[in-house]
Order: sequence, then structure tokens, then C-alpha cells
Amino acid sequence: MKAMVYTEYGPPEVLQLEEVEKPTPKEDEVLIKVHAVSINGSDWEGLIGKPLYARLGGLRRPSNKILGSDIAGRVERTGSSVREFQPGDDVFGEIPGYHGGFAEYACVPEERLVRKPARLTFEEAAAIPQGAVIALQGIRDMGQVQPGQNVLINGAGGSAGTFAVQLAKLYGAEVTGVDNAGKMDFLRSLGADHVVDFTREDFTKSGERYDLILDIAAYRSVFATRRALKPNGRYFCVGGSTAVLFQALLLGPWIRRMAGKHMRILAVQPNREDLGFMTELCEVGKIVPVIDRRYPLSEVPEALRYVGEGRAKGKIVITVDQN
Ligand SMILES: NC(=O)c1ccc[n+]([C@@H]2O[C@H](COP(=O)([O-])OP(=O)(O)OC[C@H]3O[C@@H](n4cnc5c(N)ncnc54)[C@H](OP(=O)(O)O)[C@@H]3O)[C@@H](O)[C@H]2O)c1
Repeated sequence: MKAMVYTEYGPPEVLQLEEVEKPTPKEDEVLIKVHAVSINGSDWEGLIGKPLYARLGGLRRPSNKILGSDIAGRVERTGSSVREFQPGDDVFGEIPGYHGGFAEYACVPEERLVRKPARLTFEEAAAIPQGAVIALQGIRDMGQVQPGQNVLINGAGGSAGTFAVQLAKLYGAEVTGVDNAGKMDFLRSLGADHVVDFTREDFTKSGERYDLILDIAAYRSVFATRRALKPNGRYFCVGGSTAVLFQALLLGPWIRRMAGKHMRILAVQPNREDLGFMTELCEVGKIVPVIDRRYPLSEVPEALRYVGEGRAKGKIVITVDQN
């Protein structure tokens, strides 16, 4: 099968379209003919090997040579213990460990997949898994957002952020979206009440206070961000600099005791229930999986460059099978 392969961390040029062996499903896995795969920030990080946590699978070289986590396609074969799916079923989900989707075929554990609703295209379905589940667990579960609360989403214009903005609005919050200058109108179109261009303005110094800050691009110290939280406010960091993630991990419990503010890492637990919940919202049009651009498999390097340069508004989708 054809796959976009890399053997060293680096810029998009390290990726090569190659012929590789078609994977064989383990007993609990499903072999999927990939129709579409979407790009997340984690693919870009996995490509360049930064931040440091992106090298968890291989410090010097990537141990897994095919990136791409969020796939949608048709079941071709099933492992011996798979009960729920059969060849011919249309499914989608997230591959554990964020790998293997930039290819014509991929194997995914049955427990990670849900059926693709007929109302969603393969591209729309592929755009949902990782970003939507991060948003759900950040806004609903950890954030416990209530109507009228002030919610700030940092990194609001990317994959997870676009779902988070829409979901926070759906739960009745007043939403501030933070991202680069090119995404301000886009954030307003998603429903953000206020927008902040992080290249010109530091939201921690504006004097505004929030009930929840969901930090998808955490590059400010927890001490700076703490200022922007209301008493009893909540802060969850999802991705960003390793130093800030460590601060939240080590200092979060202390800040909680001293200042009563929750500051923690959001360790996302992918699961079918949450994916199903977000998919239903997409089916009925309450949430839109926003697709900025589509590329063929051979143009994954260009697609990743577009994401890495900060130009993607929402999701970038690779259409693997044009039929
Ligand atoms: N905690 C977990 O369990 C978990 C699970 C899965 C993924 N993740 C992490 O989630 C993170 C984000 O995912 P994603 O797919 O939404 O990424 P994404 O699509 O790349 O979106 C990130 C957005 O943040 C913006 N941004 C960058 N620096 C910023 C800053 N200093 N202030 C405000 N905005 C900034 C980016 O714009 P520019 O491009 O202009 O920089 C981009 O629009 C990744 O770091 C990934 O590793 C965490």
C-alpha cells in the first residue's frame, strides 16, 4: 500500500510517499481502507519532534514511521475477536498513539471506532475524533461550564479549539478565543464573543478574569495565567511547552491550596461514548467540524506545512481515497 513515511524528525521534506506492507489486524483490531484522515497539532509536533513530549515514542528517531491519527474509512477485514464490525461497514475514530493514518490502510482497535453516520462524509467524520474529544473533556467534564460563565480558549482557531469554542457557546458561556491575527474573523464566525490576537496582546495582562481557561497552546507560565482566573476558576492545559505542562503538574496542587484555583493538565481519555456524543452534535448541526482545506495523500507534506505555519482555520483533511 502507499503511505507517507518518515524516519527522522524534521521539516515536511523528511516525509516520503512509499510502498509499504499492508498492516494485518491483531485479534481485537479492524483493518480499514482509509478514505480520509485529518491533521491535528500532534501530527505537526510528531513530525518535527517538538515539544519534547512528541518524542515519547522515540527520543532520537520516530519509532512509528507513519503519522496521522484521526481516520475514517471502510472496514476491509476484522480480527478474530471483533464482534461489532464487519467488512463493508463505514467507521471512524482515533488510532491510539496518534499514528498510522497517512496511508491507504490502517489497523485500529475495535473499541476506538464508531459507525460513520450516513449524514456525515468521510472527510467530516475524519475531522472529528481527537479535537472534538479534547473539547468535550475540557469544556463539559473538567471545565463544568455553566451558562453565563466566562470561558477563554487559548489556541482557539486550530483543531481542538474550533470544537471548544462552539461547545462552550452551546453550554451558554461567554467565550473569548485567542489565536493569531489571521484567525480573528474566523473565531467570530464560530461564535466567539471576544477575540484576542496573541501576537499583539497578552490575555493574562488585560485585567479580564475567567471561570475557565482551556489552554490548548500553553506557552505562558502558570503564574501569569493564574492572574486571569476568577477565585475558584479552573485552568487546564492541553498542549504547548513542556515547561508549562510540568509547572501545571508540579505546582497545580500547591496553587490550589494557596489560592483556591484549579490548575491542571487535561490528560484526555479517548473513548467511544465521548466520540459518539460529539458526533451526534455534528450530525444535527449544533457543532460543525470546520474543514479549511483538503489535500491528496501525496501532498501530506504541504498540508502539514500549512498547519505548522499557523494558517489552518479548523481542520485540514487528507482525502486518501477519492471515490
Ligand atoms: N493533553 C492531552 O491528553 C492531549 C491529547 C491530544 C493532543 N494534545 C495536544 O493538544 C495540542 C493542540 O492540539 P490541536 O490539534 O488543536 O493543535 P492545532 O490545530 O495546531 O491548533 C493550535 C492553535 O494554537 C495556536 N497557537 C500557537 N501558539 C499560540 C499561542 N502562544 N497563543 C495562542 N494560540 C497559539 C495555533 O496558531 P499558530 O499556528 O499561529 O501558532 C493554532 O491555531 C497539541 O499540543 C497536542 O499535542 C493533548
